[in-house]
Amino acid sequence: MESTEKDVVILAVESSCDETAAAVVKNGREVLSNIISSQIELHTQYGGVVPEIASRKHIEKINQVMEEALSEAHMTLDEMDAIAVTYGPGLVGALLVGVAAAKAVAYAAGKPLIGVHHIEGHISANYIENKELKPPFLCLVVSGGHTHLVRVEDYGVYKIVGRTRDDAAGEAFDKVARAIGLGYPGGPKIEKVSREGNADAIVFPRAKIAENPYDFSFSGVKSAVLNFINGCKMKDIPVVQADVAASFQKAVTDVLIEHAMMAVKEFQIDKFAIAGGVASNNTLRTGMQEACKKAGVEFYYPSPVFCTDNAAMIGTAAYYEYLAGRRDGWDLNAVPNLKLGER
Ligand code: KG4
Ligand code: ZN
Repeated sequence: MESTEKDVVILAVESSCDETAAAVVKNGREVLSNIISSQIELHTQYGGVVPEIASRKHIEKINQVMEEALSEAHMTLDEMDAIAVTYGPGLVGALLVGVAAAKAVAYAAGKPLIGVHHIEGHISANYIENKELKPPFLCLVVSGGHTHLVRVEDYGVYKIVGRTRDDAAGEAFDKVARAIGLGYPGGPKIEKVSREGNADAIVFPRAKIAENPYDFSFSGVKSAVLNFINGCKMKDIPVVQADVAASFQKAVTDVLIEHAMMAVKEFQIDKFAIAGGVASNNTLRTGMQEACKKAGVEFYYPSPVFCTDNAAMIGTAAYYEYLAGRRDGWDLNAVPNLKLGER
C-alpha cells in the first residue's frame, strides 16, 4: 500500500446506464461533490432505457457534469490525484462515453486513470456514510442489472455467493410495473402504490434453486404476476393494482432477506450491507434491518442517492484501487459484461 498521509482526491465518472454522473471524493469517504444528470424522464416515454438515446445524452452532458463536479468541490483538475471511471458492466455505448471522457481528461492533465467495476462501486457506496465499515462483510447488490450476494473479503477482493439466474431484482420491479400499468422506472412506483395495498392478498412464488441455495430467480414471480392479471381479465375480476404491487414486492423482498440471512449464518459474518437501486426500497430496508437485528448482525445501507447510480461510489471504490497501486493504461476499454473480481 502507498502512504496515506497525503490527501487523495479523485474525480470519478459514471455513465453505465441512464445517469450521467461525476463526483469528487477525498480519501475515499468524503464526498466533495456528487453531480447526477438523470435521463429517466427521457426514457419514461419509451417504457425503459433506450441504449442509443442514453449514449447520445451522455455525450451531451458528460463535460458539463465533470466541470460541475469540480466547481462544486471548489477544486481544479490539477488538484486531482487520479481520474476514475466505470468501465463495465453496463450498456457498451453508454460506458464508452464515460471511458473516453475520463481518458481524455486524465491524458490532458497528466493524471493516472483508474477503471472501476460498477458493482464494486455500488458495494463501496456503503463506505461513504458508514466511516467505520471495513471488510470483511456480506453485501447484497440489487439493481436494475444485477442481483449478487457478495462476500467482501477485503477492499477489492470479492467472492460471489449467489446471483440471479435470470432477471435482476430491479428488472423484475420494472417489468411488473409495466404490466400493471405503472410505467418506468418500476421500483419507486411499485413501492409507492404498495403502501395502499395488502401484501398478503396474493401469494406469489418464491423460487428456490436446487444447485445453489443462494442463487435467485425472478422470472417466475414476474410470470406469476402476468398470469394473475390475465386470469382476472378473463374472469372479469377487477385487478387491485395496489394489492398486486404489494404482494409482488413482498415475494421479492422475502427471498432477498431469506438468502441474505442464510449466508450470514453459514459464513458467520457479523456485518451485512445492501447496495444498488433496489436497496433504496423501504420494505427491503426495514425487513433486512429486522432480520439482521434478530441475527445479531450489524446492518449497513447507503442513503437512496448513493443506492441508485452515482459517481461518488465510483470515486470511493477507486480510492482503494489507488491505494493498492492499480492504474489503467490509455487502452482502457468499455467491457459491457465485465465480471466482478476480474481485472
Ligand atoms: O443501481 P441502479 O440505479 O442502476 C443499475 O445499476 O441497474 O438501479 C436501478 C434499478 C431500477 O430497476 C429501479 O426500478 C430500481 O433500481 N429501484 C427500485 C427502487 N428505486 C429504484 N426498486 C425497488 N424499490 C425502489 N424504491
Ligand atoms: Zn447501478
